[in-house]
Amino acid sequence: MSRLIVEGGRPLRGSVEISGAKNSALAIVVAAALATEGECVLDNIPRGSDVATICQILQDLGAEVWYDDQDRLHVKGQNLHKHQASYDLVRRMRASFYSAGLLLARLGRAEVPLPGGCAIGSRPVDYHIKGFSQLGADVTIEHGYMKAEAGRLKGSHIYINRASVGTTINLMIAASLAEGTTVLENAAKEPEVVDLAIFLNGMGAKVRGAGTDSIRIEGVETLRGIEYSIIPDRIEAGTFMLAAAITGGDIVLKSVVAEHLRVPIVKLEEAGVTITRGDNELHVVAPNRLQAVDVETLPYPGFPTDLQQPFVAAMCVAEGTSVIRETIFDRFRYVDELRRMGADIKTEQNTAIVRGVPQLTGAPVEITDLRAGAALAIAALAAQGRTELYGVEILDRGYEFFEDKLRQLGAQIYRE
Ligand code: UD1
Repeated sequence: MSRLIVEGGRPLRGSVEISGAKNSALAIVVAAALATEGECVLDNIPRGSDVATICQILQDLGAEVWYDDQDRLHVKGQNLHKHQASYDLVRRMRASFYSAGLLLARLGRAEVPLPGGCAIGSRPVDYHIKGFSQLGADVTIEHGYMKAEAGRLKGSHIYINRASVGTTINLMIAASLAEGTTVLENAAKEPEVVDLAIFLNGMGAKVRGAGTDSIRIEGVETLRGIEYSIIPDRIEAGTFMLAAAITGGDIVLKSVVAEHLRVPIVKLEEAGVTITRGDNELHVVAPNRLQAVDVETLPYPGFPTDLQQPFVAAMCVAEGTSVIRETIFDRFRYVDELRRMGADIKTEQNTAIVRGVPQLTGAPVEITDLRAGAALAIAALAAQGRTELYGVEILDRGYEFFEDKLRQLGAQIYRE
């Protein structure tokens, strides 16, 4: 068990390269195995442990997956033959359920364990399963597994509840090889969905409307391997912006798409941060003290739930009181850890009321989920004295070279 040690109180300065988007990578690596001609060569895939898990799942199902010496990920799906995904791998991460869409599309049958509960509340996959049924699969739930039989899936008109990102992605993967046309209504509009659509179209799929709430997929017979570079990680970028903001820093983010961060940028500007857009760059200059700002998380283009926790961390030392409403997940358990660092936060159902204090103090804290880990690290950077972060392997799921990048920006952070 390793931990991160942070000596807080240093403003971040310098520039940092943003990695490829974890959530895009998880979808695109799975979709790459849809190809039966050639192989996919994927660039800008981040090296978190979630991506490693999805690669292992594909290998277990019979696909060939490897990194070349230029750090590009090759996926060759021709030999995919096993229709049962392993519980031991799938239980590690919810996005593993994308393997169900892949198996149904490629093999016409899938047995995939239902992902269990998770630290950010109940996260069922009922919308995914309903979608597979609507695509003609015969679905049963037995012994903790979803078992689906379909032959070739049939295009259908599907309404997706709550504009679920995972459901949209899984059904896009499944429908791309279906017979006939699928229309996904109330589809998620996240940039990762658009990235997947562009990738699928490159492979020969016919996906239209990604980025709007109605996506139309004309099924094709086969897909082919292509080279593709995935989009930058908007959540990692937002996390570094908040790290700069809370420490009174001055940093440049390189390889970012500012358009994907419109609302977080507006909220940081309201808090007093100056943000200048360059060519694939953002220059972030923080004031001496942030101003309190209210935030409500919403599906894209609204404020992302994945930045809620880091934003709350920043608001802990802002001047005034912020009201943060979380509408997507049950994501406030980590505030107990922030309180141990001196934060003044009250939570009522899905709302956190954060009264800014002049200073946090370092403490031993426990990471409960991925974005909580980012929030605690950010708080530690601004806190007086030493913070010990336990449960770092959770942070490693989704942030590549996290402490190296922070160290490059002048933070005192190391792993023990
Ligand atoms: C994805 C992202 C996650 C992000 C979230 C919301 C990945 C790998 N993860 O998660 O980082 O925080 O989008 O932007 O891309 N729901 C159901 N039944 C379902 C599916 C979803 O009830 O079958 C509920 C969820 O519990 C949640 C809401 O719908 O309350 C939205 O979830 P969804 O958009 O599906 O999130 P994920 O795809 O799991």
